[in-house]
Amino acid sequence: MHIPHLLSERFADAISRSPFADQVSDIPRFAGMIRIAGNPKFGDYQANFAMPISKMIGDTNPREVAQQVVDLVELDDVCDPPEVAGPGFINLKLKDQFITEKLVAMLDDDRCLVPKTDQPKKILIDYSSPNVAKPMHVGHIRTTVIGHCLAQTLSFLGHDVVTDNHLGDWGTQFGMIIYGYKHFGDAETVAADPVPELAKLYRLVHQLMSYHKAVSSIPKLQTQIEDLGVQQADARQEAENAEGKEAKKKRKLADSIAKKIAACRENLKKAETTISEINADSEMKQLAAEHAEIATAVLEETSKLHAGDAENKRLWEQFLPYCKDEINRVYRRLNVTFDHTLGESFYHDMLRDTVDGLVERGLAKESDGAICVFLDQFEAPMIIQKRDGAFLYATTDLATLKYREAEFSPDEILYVVDARQGEHFDKLFAVAELTKLTSAKLVHVSFGTVLGEDGKPIKTRSGTLIGLESLLDDAVDAAFQVVCDPDRLVSLDPPMDDEEKRRVSETIGIGAIKYADLSHHRTSDYQFKLSKMVALSGNTATYAQYNYARTPSILQRNGVTESEVHKRVAESGFEFTHPAERDLALTMLRFEEALMSVYDDYAPNHLVDYVYGVAESFAKFNVQCHVLRAETPEIQTTRLGLVMLTGRILEKGLGLLGINVVERM
Ligand code: ARG
Repeated sequence: MHIPHLLSERFADAISRSPFADQVSDIPRFAGMIRIAGNPKFGDYQANFAMPISKMIGDTNPREVAQQVVDLVELDDVCDPPEVAGPGFINLKLKDQFITEKLVAMLDDDRCLVPKTDQPKKILIDYSSPNVAKPMHVGHIRTTVIGHCLAQTLSFLGHDVVTDNHLGDWGTQFGMIIYGYKHFGDAETVAADPVPELAKLYRLVHQLMSYHKAVSSIPKLQTQIEDLGVQQADARQEAENAEGKEAKKKRKLADSIAKKIAACRENLKKAETTISEINADSEMKQLAAEHAEIATAVLEETSKLHAGDAENKRLWEQFLPYCKDEINRVYRRLNVTFDHTLGESFYHDMLRDTVDGLVERGLAKESDGAICVFLDQFEAPMIIQKRDGAFLYATTDLATLKYREAEFSPDEILYVVDARQGEHFDKLFAVAELTKLTSAKLVHVSFGTVLGEDGKPIKTRSGTLIGLESLLDDAVDAAFQVVCDPDRLVSLDPPMDDEEKRRVSETIGIGAIKYADLSHHRTSDYQFKLSKMVALSGNTATYAQYNYARTPSILQRNGVTESEVHKRVAESGFEFTHPAERDLALTMLRFEEALMSVYDDYAPNHLVDYVYGVAESFAKFNVQCHVLRAETPEIQTTRLGLVMLTGRILEKGLGLLGINVVERM
């Protein structure tokens, strides 16, 4: 049920029968200008095409244009007579009967009146895709929950969705654990408790590499700061000597240099902290001294793996399943699955051909020993093979694209990846177009950063990223506090036992994290604040889940089952006697609108807003409209029907967000 689409179809028909039909070039576009009314006093929707149409046809009176269309439009079965207002807006108020008929239909439709598209597309979604060999961290939440929600929503809309977890299972991080294992590991410990042991090795190698990187960065940063200082002094001097516009320009330059200096200082401070932390630990200090060439050595281990070195390949084969077990545990907890998990390693044997193919076709060429694809719109080319012969992330992505085209023939490919990889994808898509790799629409569904309460990218005190699992545990603990609030528990009969408390807390805690993430437009950064995420009020999963849980309990208190409500509604239908009933009903009919907006800009927050809207309308309805003590049996039937439909919509909506409901909380 997409009310704006229905309205615009009727308007398109009316416009095409109007005296000025020939002068309007794109009738469906104009007819599609239907918005939810800003002020409910004037109606439910508003049609805004009269002004742009009158401009197009050179008519100076948009009100007249609006009136002419209104006189022709056939909407008797949908709306009260439309009213022209202001400079030519058309106000539309749906008839109660239209709404109630749809509600009855909704009771019989487990898709909540959302039809399957008649133009299904094959949509491949590349999401989650962590670099394994290191534990999953908070940064992996976003791609995982956004990708999962898109997969579910698009598939519910009737598209043919294929999900692929493009695991980073072949990169430097494996060089790191192989190096770590060879120098600091021992077979028995790894065999006994592989996952934490490998994580420990990864962390150790990472620390040592960071240490040496920091050491070598310090003189560079110092020189940079000095150079910038000179440039800044020059710019200031020039600003003083110049006048007007020129002086302003120079001042601006000096300011921008000041910012660069501040950034360098910040990096310098970070490097110094890294170094002093290691130096404070005599054992680490000693190790750092013994492994001065660790960065090069790690790269060598990685190259050896890629070149098929027997020992490294064997270690990789031994470690990879452990790494997969680790991430699968997180996926199970998040309730996320994939159709395919084709990691980077899967494409390794195709990389040579990918590069050779492009060279043969004259699309890639050698430059400075490396092989590159030059692109007009970018200053730097895309490097697809390094001077030392190594292939890159980009090479794998090209091979992956070629494989996906051959294997799945997708209409669209969505890459749900951090915004910081924007340039990589811009280039990848440009190369794909240049080389005619695929006809699919390629989209980088980018997202912002998760920030800590201090507004900076979320980290623990030691500076490493917080592990995803401990974050999930924290959320479940916070949910447990909410679930076990004695004030609310007393009203539950029979009381919750420990098993139910744990189960409910898990659902609420995990839901809270997902919902909080999805509630922000994906391109914005957001602050991770657990107490807010599990709050029982406001735009949270907990609030939506709580309102959901009230729906079965209301039916129960009224002593009716769902099928009894269904039967009663089938007999007497719905009838509104209170505005809160109508508001709730109309909100529910907007489900398809919300889902279509998710697809429009690949943004789940539209669905979150929708779920929140339903939960809020329901909460208001609940306060204002008694069910048990309804004035008449007919009013009670209407209200029971609304309660039952609310439960269904909340369950479905949350489900598409990847969030479960509980029957009581
Ligand atoms: N493994 C990459 C990372 O963690 C993300 C991969 C995204 N997908 C892709 N086809 N490039 O940064």
